[in-house]
Amino acid sequence: MTGSAAALAVRAAELRAQIAQHDYRYHVLDDPEIPDAEYDRLVQELLALEREHPELVTPDSPSQRVGARPSAAFATIEHRIPMLSLDNGFSDEDLIAFDSRIREKLGGESEVVYSAEPKIDGLAVSVTWEDGRLVRAATRGDGTRGEDVTANVRTIRSVPLQLRAGAPRKLEARGEVFMPLAGFERMNRQADARGERTFVNPRNAAAGALRQLDPRISATRPLELFFYSVGELDGPDLPQRHSEMLARLRDWGLRTCPEIAVVQGVEGCLEYYRRIGARRAQLGYQIDGVVYKVDRIGDQHRLGFVSRAPRWALAHKFPADEAVTTVRDVEFQVGRTGALTPVARLVPVFVGGVTVSNATLHNMDEVARKDVRVGDAVVVRRAGDVIPEVLRVLPERRPADAQPVVLPERCPVCGSAVVREEEGAIARCTGDYACSAQRKERLRHFASRRAMDVEGLGDKLIDQLVECGLVNSPADLYTLEVAQLEGLDRMGRKSAEKLVAALQRSKDTRLGRFLFALGIRDVGESTAAALASHFGALESLQAADAPTIQEVPDVGPVVAAHVVEFFANPLNLDVLARLRASGVHWPDQPRTAPEKPPLAGLTFVITGALQSLSRAEAEEQLRELGARAAGSVSAKTSYLVAGADAGSKLAKATALGVPVIDEQALRQVLETKRPPT
Ligand code: IVH
Repeated sequence: MTGSAAALAVRAAELRAQIAQHDYRYHVLDDPEIPDAEYDRLVQELLALEREHPELVTPDSPSQRVGARPSAAFATIEHRIPMLSLDNGFSDEDLIAFDSRIREKLGGESEVVYSAEPKIDGLAVSVTWEDGRLVRAATRGDGTRGEDVTANVRTIRSVPLQLRAGAPRKLEARGEVFMPLAGFERMNRQADARGERTFVNPRNAAAGALRQLDPRISATRPLELFFYSVGELDGPDLPQRHSEMLARLRDWGLRTCPEIAVVQGVEGCLEYYRRIGARRAQLGYQIDGVVYKVDRIGDQHRLGFVSRAPRWALAHKFPADEAVTTVRDVEFQVGRTGALTPVARLVPVFVGGVTVSNATLHNMDEVARKDVRVGDAVVVRRAGDVIPEVLRVLPERRPADAQPVVLPERCPVCGSAVVREEEGAIARCTGDYACSAQRKERLRHFASRRAMDVEGLGDKLIDQLVECGLVNSPADLYTLEVAQLEGLDRMGRKSAEKLVAALQRSKDTRLGRFLFALGIRDVGESTAAALASHFGALESLQAADAPTIQEVPDVGPVVAAHVVEFFANPLNLDVLARLRASGVHWPDQPRTAPEKPPLAGLTFVITGALQSLSRAEAEEQLRELGARAAGSVSAKTSYLVAGADAGSKLAKATALGVPVIDEQALRQVLETKRPPT
């Protein structure tokens, strides 16, 4: 080796060590030391070095995450120590019984210490490192034999290819592969945009990604892995407690779930169950319960196993968020913009911890797609705080007299004609201000917290105000007087005064909030804010035509048309004038200069495998900068991005004289937000 070759080898090793350290801080400690761009720079430097000097590549290099070619089928891997399952508990009583069994078997201990962990809803895998190197990964399979998914697990960025110093000679760690919700949603959006099949839930998506025969595809899927136990282990002085074992795994570079805690006795377990249950929607990944494990490993050995599950652990499941019930009727609700939503009236059923008797069917297209009929047995889902929905029909249980759902020709509330938009699934009541349902919904929206924020103007009160004719439009709200309110149901003098004061306070607002409050179709909070900062004043927006409105970032022709339509309606203009006359006001807002996105007018085509991000991610980022991302090369292509193993597209681009850039240049475009130089 020449002197400079040796220096390059040293540099490559240095970069690998630094990258591994940053991976550990980022994925395991959740405490990155350097910004992402700086990390990317290190990776790029190493990749460039390895490209120039392939002899410097080592099996644990970050460039080797996606190495293997697709395989025809997975090989089988035997689990020397079987991968077990867990006993399930569904109630506090089940937990209490579990804890008493344990205390009794351990000789009457008064309080057992448990490791309490979220039960991640993914797939169990076993990963083995030998002499610090990741050598094998397998699915659980039947518990004794699983599939060899080494190539795919290697693509998961939070799984170290090389363990940190101090790791045992041989380590087999077990954990759960899952797909975080954000990644799942992004992946489905992209699949949808390409007209491809979407996944029903993150678990299926994770299973699909893990069992991909082509690891280059797995590499583009946002998988993660939390480790929760060890299988085979060959090292001295092992810890006495499961919680210490998990800490050891973290020291060696493995990621564990940050929510894991050590708790005392049944009380501690229950408190943990409630705490995690309450935070479930914020975790960013799906869990279906919590797992309690006796923390002392010696005690685990004493307790042993029954058939396929350990006696020392219990999965305490959350109430199922899906259940089967019967559709009694389908009714139509009229929303703020007149949209008719079919709602299934159900035989009440306990699901997701509450009793559900109504579930949305979204729109008539969904009713047709799912073929829901009155009388059908259906699966309903209620996940977190979301509105319960009908997932699917059980056709084998359909009664002979099940009735199809028919869209009414007239609005069930005001009797106005119902029209179905040409291209859309949505049917609307044409009653507008004449429809009391639309009036009520508009008022609810107007008064809501993120709009005018009128405290104390609840649903029941709005219903009363509309029904007794006191309020028809938002402008009428500001004419209300204490004396008028006092007579209403459940309204004393005090509450009436409070409401009038709250209305008074709400007059002091901001233009963005006010625009949002008006409830213009498709103008949500962020569009309202964008319109406010672009136009600065209500009058300018009112005077603008559709093309001018479309200059606002993210505003397309449909939204622009709705805005124009809103301000063309004399009824709306009257409401606006009255709102301003009653003192609704906002401070002047500085205008932002209209901006053209930096890559507007450019078309990129990406081909071959990218190392540092997936093709879909790259395309998404390019689109965010205003570029078009196309699937095939033509004379109109501005740039071809050629990753590893680029094939026919590269040949075509060269033939057409389309400029070709590499991944590094692409990253530069994305970072500097400028066209390639
Ligand atoms: S411990 C012998 N801990 O749940 C102990 N499992 O229903 C075996 N799971 O196959 C597993 N989160 O896929 C354990 N914190 C956790 C878990 C967990 C999810 C899964 C795992 C297992 C299944 C059993």
